[in-house]
Amino acid sequence: MSKKITKIGVLTSGGDAPGMNAAIRAVVRACSYYHLECVGVYRGYQGLIEGDFEKLDARSVRNVINRGGTFLKSTRSLEFKTKEGRKKAHDQLSEAGVDALVVIGGDGTFTGGVFFSDEFNFPIVGIPATIDNDIHGTDYTLGYDTALNTVVEAIDKIRDTASSHNRLFLVEVMGRDAGDIALNSGIGAGAEEILIPEEDAGVARMLESLKKSKMSGKTSSIIVVAEGEKSGKNIFQLAEFIHEQDESYDIRVSVLGHIQRGGSPSCFDRVLASKLGVGAVEAIIDGKTKVMIGLHHQNVVTVPLETAIKGEPKVDKELRRVADITSV
Ligand code: F6P
Repeated sequence: MSKKITKIGVLTSGGDAPGMNAAIRAVVRACSYYHLECVGVYRGYQGLIEGDFEKLDARSVRNVINRGGTFLKSTRSLEFKTKEGRKKAHDQLSEAGVDALVVIGGDGTFTGGVFFSDEFNFPIVGIPATIDNDIHGTDYTLGYDTALNTVVEAIDKIRDTASSHNRLFLVEVMGRDAGDIALNSGIGAGAEEILIPEEDAGVARMLESLKKSKMSGKTSSIIVVAEGEKSGKNIFQLAEFIHEQDESYDIRVSVLGHIQRGGSPSCFDRVLASKLGVGAVEAIIDGKTKVMIGLHHQNVVTVPLETAIKGEPKVDKELRRVADITSV
């Protein structure tokens, strides 16, 4: 029989994402609702190793639902990748009387959680939070919707200059090995062409679509380039390459960078964070462990952590088709 849960720890780990604070808030408030103690762990797994804990109650998380980043702070801990590091973390949890952990983050966070749970038979529940949307078993990760809106807003501004000066802009967006941000923001911002890692279409397709646009009378263009795309050229080399093929292009490059990770979370991300945070605490109460709480077809679902981190990246063919049709 599993141990009765009285105290839950919560941490954020890996790259920050808008909505993490809202998720922490939901976990803390759900603990309060179910009369459980809650402990915030600062600096992710590193703080776990060092015992950087603070008791959180319902009032500790006032005024955080609207804040980007994570007030618990985040790290990518190298020490937690070692068995000794994880042992220290377990000792800290035992000393603090913490019975279960909610880990908020992406695949690295979940991988650490699986190791830890296996080694110490410790209950771990994950909440997917990364702007990359690269976690399997959930339709959305926290922060993705906000990042998309940030990217679209930025490209809208770039479009003003592109159109005023008849320029071709290459805009690099984040996403690591996933093209979700690029594909969706590209459609939302009306991009000419979208380069994503899941498709190795090469540069030929991009040149072809630029040629077609020129012939159809377009005077400016925007190409969205996912940071992980596989042409083998970085975005500046891509710009040079296009210029070598056709010198008439007045090309500029814009790398959006970390502005995509910041900012106040969208309403969608706040609601998602609230649902997943409550779901995580309820899963722990129900005796579940090594699972992620995700959203699939509008329903809160429970997915094994191993599944969440192991799926193969896939391209949404329908989205690609829509992008192709709407950019003619
Ligand atoms: O995983 C989120 C993400 O922003 C990726 O899109 C990007 O590749 C990476 O993190 C950047 O990491 P860092 O903040 O460590 O430079």
